[in-house]
Amino acid sequence: MAQIFDRSSNALARMSLVLTGLIVIALGVTLDQLQRSPWVTRQGQRPDQPVPFSHKHHVQGLGLQCQYCHTTVERSSYAGIPPTKTCLNCHAQIWTNAQLLEPVRQSWATGRSVAWTKVHDLPDFVYFSHEIHVNKGLGCSSCHGRVDQMPLMYAQNTLQMEWCLDCHRNPAKNLRPTSEVYNMAWEKPAEERPVWCSMEDVKSGTPTAEGVNCTTKDPGGTGPEIASLQLPGGAHGLAGDVAAAGMPAAPVYRKFTSQDELGHFLLARYRIRTPKELTSCEVCHR
Ligand code: HEC
Ligand code: HEC
Ligand code: HEC
Ligand code: HEC
Ligand code: HEC
Repeated sequence: MAQIFDRSSNALARMSLVLTGLIVIALGVTLDQLQRSPWVTRQGQRPDQPVPFSHKHHVQGLGLQCQYCHTTVERSSYAGIPPTKTCLNCHAQIWTNAQLLEPVRQSWATGRSVAWTKVHDLPDFVYFSHEIHVNKGLGCSSCHGRVDQMPLMYAQNTLQMEWCLDCHRNPAKNLRPTSEVYNMAWEKPAEERPVWCSMEDVKSGTPTAEGVNCTTKDPGGTGPEIASLQLPGGAHGLAGDVAAAGMPAAPVYRKFTSQDELGHFLLARYRIRTPKELTSCEVCHR
């Protein structure tokens, strides 16, 4: 061997090994970044649609609720895309000649659905359900962003595993009262933006959010003062006095001024599983 390869070619071989190693690493990093790039995840892109449907006009402008069109979002894994009939509830009367709406009229005439391009599309090996998320106090805007301000639909988030896990590891930071799920402008509670929740026990046998009663308007006489007067034993609180005076006891509310407090309260109320359980592979890969 020594006759064929001298010392210098040995050094050369070592060098090219190191170089190859570097190239492989660089390629790996590039591929990884590529895999997370908006080009692959389609995050933020507005695909061409047969009709330039504007959520901004229909939601913010006309005040339509999400459920008007996405009828199954609370009770099925799919939110659902509205049938042509839903559009014609209005467009049989308005904009009836608009060129923009030709594909809608075509669809109605032929009975073939409008061929919308999917904006969000998880791979088949991932299980996702709207029902559980929406009924446990996750707002549309937490995952889809300010849809009411989108002239054309795009994906606000990557929908990659890391994104799902980031919330499953700590859901408290995103939980809100279920009454606020459709509120696009919902913001975390703060000193100047409190939320009050009834302290009444959730009816037994109702492990979902239905039993949780929260409000962003000061519930008045039963406000924070009374809640803070709830002493151990309850007898010394105002609510106790009211009850003692023979009046029906008003519900007692607790005031929340931070997402952390509210989130942990709701975590218990909604009976959300532990981060360990929620990040186990079988939850999403069944
Ligand atoms: C008047 C009917 C209508 C209303 C109201 C409406 N949508 Fe839509 N939505 C559609 C149609 C049609 C599409 C499919 C075309 C598109 O992607 O723009 C769609 C698509 C979407 C998508 C993307 C679907 C995909 O392809 O991944 C999301 C997310 C969405 N809507 C959320 C909402 C939310 C949140 C609200 C309430 C704030 C709402 N929509 C209100 C009709 C409606
Ligand atoms: C509740 C009534 C109503 C429903 C339901 C409705 N639209 Fe509209 N749509 C309107 C009105 C009103 C306008 C005019 C808005 C404007 O000019 O500000 C409009 C405008 C439009 C336009 C013109 C561009 C724009 O956004 O201004 C398109 C395209 C459109 N609608 C598509 C659809 C489709 C597709 C559906 C079904 C998924 C649908 N609409 C359902 C009332 C409705
Ligand atoms: C926890 C995150 C999350 C929340 C909360 C959420 N979505 Fe989605 N949404 C998704 C994901 C992920 C997909 C893609 C599902 C797929 O490809 O199977 C999706 C898809 C959709 C679609 C496309 C049709 C479908 O069902 O696949 C619509 C429409 C939609 N969402 C509307 C809504 C509305 C309206 C709300 C609020 C009531 C909402 N979403 C709340 C994550 C969420
Ligand atoms: C913003 C927070 C958030 C995001 C983002 C989120 N989840 Fe969840 N997910 C939750 C919460 C909270 C629960 C309810 C857990 C419970 O009740 O114990 C849940 C429950 C689930 C469940 C359990 C359903 C069942 O019936 O057991 C599945 C599956 C799931 N999520 C899949 C996903 C996938 C896939 C993604 C990403 C595409 C995702 N989630 C993104 C918060 C989130
Ligand atoms: C909260 C939901 C969730 C949980 C829990 C989860 N995954 Fe995933 N996983 C996803 C989603 C969503 C994707 C699709 C990512 C994409 O499309 O880029 C994915 C993709 C994958 C892929 C394909 C390669 C990739 O990264 O895209 C593998 C492998 C995988 N998961 C393994 C696991 C293992 C192993 C576990 C348990 C340690 C796990 N997953 C737990 C949601 C989850």
